[in-house]
Amino acid sequence: MEKVGIGIIGCGNISGAYLKAMAGFDILDIRGVADLNQAAAEAKAAEFSVPVSTIDTLMADPKVEIILNLTIPRAHVEVGLKALAAGKHAYSEKPLGINFAEGKKLAEAAENAGLRIGAAPDTFLGGGHQTARKVVDSGALGLAVGGTASFMRPGHESWHPNPDFYYDIGGGPMLDMGPYYITDLVNLFGPVRKVAGFATMLRKERTITSEPRRGETISVKVPTHIAGVLSFENGAVVQVTMSFDVAGHKHLPIEVYGTEGTLLVPDPNFFKGPVSLLKKGGDFEDYPVDQPYADGNYRSIGLADMAYAIRNNRPHRANGELALHVLEVMEAFERAAETGRTVEISTSVRRPAPLSESLVNGVLGK
Ligand SMILES: NC(=O)c1ccc[n+]([C@@H]2O[C@H](COP(=O)([O-])OP(=O)(O)OC[C@H]3O[C@@H](n4cnc5c(N)ncnc54)[C@H](O)[C@@H]3O)[C@@H](O)[C@H]2O)c1
Repeated sequence: MEKVGIGIIGCGNISGAYLKAMAGFDILDIRGVADLNQAAAEAKAAEFSVPVSTIDTLMADPKVEIILNLTIPRAHVEVGLKALAAGKHAYSEKPLGINFAEGKKLAEAAENAGLRIGAAPDTFLGGGHQTARKVVDSGALGLAVGGTASFMRPGHESWHPNPDFYYDIGGGPMLDMGPYYITDLVNLFGPVRKVAGFATMLRKERTITSEPRRGETISVKVPTHIAGVLSFENGAVVQVTMSFDVAGHKHLPIEVYGTEGTLLVPDPNFFKGPVSLLKKGGDFEDYPVDQPYADGNYRSIGLADMAYAIRNNRPHRANGELALHVLEVMEAFERAAETGRTVEISTSVRRPAPLSESLVNGVLGK
């Protein structure tokens, strides 16, 4: 199958994980890496033996079919619109945009141009999560009742070298970590109908404890502890907590409840992790993870799936419709908190097809 040319824009912290994993997907042809900061692009190009380029060169390269946008959240839509205007499909890191309105603008631009948009997370395509999806689809849980989703940590300023964007508009625990949890829940339960929530910002400043900027302070512009409830179209009601303020806890990342069983889902920040199922009257038992991509960091599998989808003229899984729905849901927590009302979600989405439909000899290939 003819490879799909990829131009990478954004050569910061996460780009290494992509460049490493992309080497494992034959369909992807890295045409070059670029960044506003040319030194960052040069460093990644040297480290991964890929061509260094510039943003304008990648946008003008006829062999680049998809722009992979690994910039900070505030730049996702700006770079995405530029890619679409240049006739390229656009795939970005999460979130799709820093608010629903700009995400919608990107989705409309893609539709008008007849081009695709896609977005991380793609961890829901990992073997642990696809196994959980298989269990849900088997009907083993009975009627969908609800669940919990919990991300609670002290904050990324303890490890990220430039953590400012996590506390800027477009950051915060919901827009940063919410995409993993809510996308995974939508993959299991389908679209969300309504959101209720509360949010707090306890500290106006945070002190960086990572190197090289240890001791510098960052001003906080977004809530850092958000708790709420999702009401899904299938009737399930799920409690969600996303926080950069909690020292530690003992909740599992995602639990899913049905009338006949309870499913423990792996951490959606990772592709791998154990799946455990309790059937009514019994105990929790490990459920064999029997789907591929369960043994490593496959960040970029959503991009590879989009590349195969382009060649095979089928929908891709980590698609704009899904990312826009998730963005609307995430924003709704804050709107619910501000207004003291539940918020109706205007978008809906079909659950992405199970990854098994695109496997050839156990690997993504169609
Ligand atoms: N760091 C992680 O572990 C991690 C994990 C998963 C997802 N992400 C997501 O990946 C994205 C990038 O995160 P990061 O940690 O790599 O950030 P980073 O700050 O380390 O790197 C971002 C890079 O983008 C460049 N950039 C910013 N605006 C640009 C623009 N308009 N045009 C071109 N380049 C531009 C910056 O110069 C920088 O090199 C974010 O959306 C983040 O949520 C990060």
